[in-house]
Amino acid sequence: MDEQTRGEHNIEVEVDLDEFRVFPPSAEFASRANVGPEIYAEAAADPVAWWAEKARSLTWETPFTRTLEWDPPFATWFDDGTLNASVSCVDRHVAAGRGDTVAFHWVGEPEGDRVDITYTDLLERVSRAAHALESMGVASGDRVAVYMPMIPEAVVALLACARIGAVHSVTFGGFTAEALAERILDAGAEFVITADGGFKGGKAAALKPQVDEALLTCPAVRNVLVVRRTGADVEWVEGRDVWWHEIMETQPATHVPVAFPAEHPLFLMYTSGTTGKPKGILHTTGGYLTHVATTFEIGFDLKPDDVFWTAADIGWITGHSYIVYGPLANGVTQVLYEGTPDGGGRDRWWRIIEELGVTVLYTAPTVIRTFMKWGEQHPGGHDLRCLRILGSVGEPINPDAWVWYRSIIGGGRCPVVDTWWQTETGGWMVMPLPGLTASKPGAAMAAFPGISIDVVDDNGVSVANGHGGSLVITAPWPGMLRGIWGDPERYRQTYWSEFEGRYFPGDAAKRDEDGDIWLLGRVDDEMYVAGHRLSTAEIEGAIVGHPAVAEAAVVGVSDEETGQAVVAFVTLRQAGEVAQKHAAQLVEDIRAHVASVVTPAALPRQVILTPDLPKTRSGKIMRRLLRDVAEHRAMGDVTTLNDPGVVSMIDGLMVAHETDDS
Ligand code: WT7
Repeated sequence: MDEQTRGEHNIEVEVDLDEFRVFPPSAEFASRANVGPEIYAEAAADPVAWWAEKARSLTWETPFTRTLEWDPPFATWFDDGTLNASVSCVDRHVAAGRGDTVAFHWVGEPEGDRVDITYTDLLERVSRAAHALESMGVASGDRVAVYMPMIPEAVVALLACARIGAVHSVTFGGFTAEALAERILDAGAEFVITADGGFKGGKAAALKPQVDEALLTCPAVRNVLVVRRTGADVEWVEGRDVWWHEIMETQPATHVPVAFPAEHPLFLMYTSGTTGKPKGILHTTGGYLTHVATTFEIGFDLKPDDVFWTAADIGWITGHSYIVYGPLANGVTQVLYEGTPDGGGRDRWWRIIEELGVTVLYTAPTVIRTFMKWGEQHPGGHDLRCLRILGSVGEPINPDAWVWYRSIIGGGRCPVVDTWWQTETGGWMVMPLPGLTASKPGAAMAAFPGISIDVVDDNGVSVANGHGGSLVITAPWPGMLRGIWGDPERYRQTYWSEFEGRYFPGDAAKRDEDGDIWLLGRVDDEMYVAGHRLSTAEIEGAIVGHPAVAEAAVVGVSDEETGQAVVAFVTLRQAGEVAQKHAAQLVEDIRAHVASVVTPAALPRQVILTPDLPKTRSGKIMRRLLRDVAEHRAMGDVTTLNDPGVVSMIDGLMVAHETDDS
């Protein structure tokens, strides 16, 4: 299901899975925090005014006099102000005398491949790239498709688009030619920025061939700007393709920026909906930049000597908001890493953190669980005392992973900050504040200051503490999507039709006895087993609580007796070492564990041990595909999978499993 549909999704949690552990920040950490607890009340007193004040810390060409105009479900923020996003992210730091500050420590995957880029360097690169785009005929409002590896030119490309008012639309570099073409066509992009390839997982992964293939069906594309990264041979279309290094050389090193209205489109980001046509989520300039700059500063308790590492791809909203716009608007120093977590060894991340003195690490639960699976010896061999905050994003983080992250990576010192948000929200919405919140492992805790949320039942009525329902956002916020590209009706229908006047993100949530917020997964990932409404996140949480388990994905499949039955796909920490007879025992253990921890109704009908799970590039488990496998249906769209081979492998296991059973 792509669009969220109503259904009944208030979850009555059968057995409480709440963690009882609570981790307040240390007294030392709290005493150095930038904000005190009064921030919540200050923001709540007048959220619109609070955001307006935050917006004023950007650099405006024309100051705004209007803040929010709300014609539900269409909002504008600061709409009579004008600004240039690249000026707030780059020029102003140079102008303030901070040009020598390193913006990025770029780390290529091949060992020793490193470049430090200062804000002065960044300004020069962005200026040349802005001229280059203009010389190719890119104008304000034009869409520019970006399909790049994690190299500095990717950041430069985005900022150069922003500088000239062009709308960037990044497609993740791992997506297929088909997915790229679909996005280019939907956006109506006439320009593409790419590279010959990038280094990932110990090899050069090509990109240009996919662009060439995609463009067979995109005749409107006029130019392709190509960064030389791997040096691989590429096909070349004369007159269309342009080498980045050749064109940049001839461009002026300074560029006079023009200011755009605050509501000028900044970018499109396509969400890889599980089925159907991807949605081009539209973000605009002033509100988005205010949201990401403010959340980054407060949410990560920013200090002048911090070194941030958002270990996400630029082809994902996390890369846009918390590598490019939020951090750069704050003028901070970051790590930008090209490769995979085991590029150059399973301790690569920990070496990078130690060498570059990373203070704040931001990654996804799926990556944390991979590290758990690989074992403590990899981080254990490194001095990680430079770290002070650990962030998590992308899916509910199970308490075990949370606690492992805090103790093994964070040495028990670092607050774990679980950030709930979406491509559509632009920036963080529900999260603890590291210097203030006594966090519970697995809980996203509370709305960010200035953000209003609720958990409601099917009738839209706020649930009491201790109950579950749907998460809703009850007031417009500056970073909110302004629409779906070319489809205002779908925007209204998808997000605003569920609960009158409120934004429905499609996530189930629970308010615990203290009123703290737990995310329970997508409502379309719920199951209905023998009269019990169960969430995948809860059952998965129970399974990964088993010491032998690394990761689990649970789906509901149709069952004659119970309506739906639980099928669990499980990866083990020490996969290779489990002998066949132990495997059978383990499966029984896991089943019993779920029944006792969640509810007997959740007893999995089947537990399939598998070496891997199908995931999107952003690390989300594609439960839809697992459902297809479990119900022996033809596989749906797999173009957004990280490793399309995984599904057929699991399919094989499933068949073997069922043959065994009979
Ligand atoms: C969906 C949005 C947010 C940037 C990356 C993903 C899930 C995201 C959390 C979290 C529980 C989370 C939600 C949300 N999600 N972060 N901290 N706890 N669930 O962006 O691809 O737009 O996905 O990811 O289900 O709706 P996205």
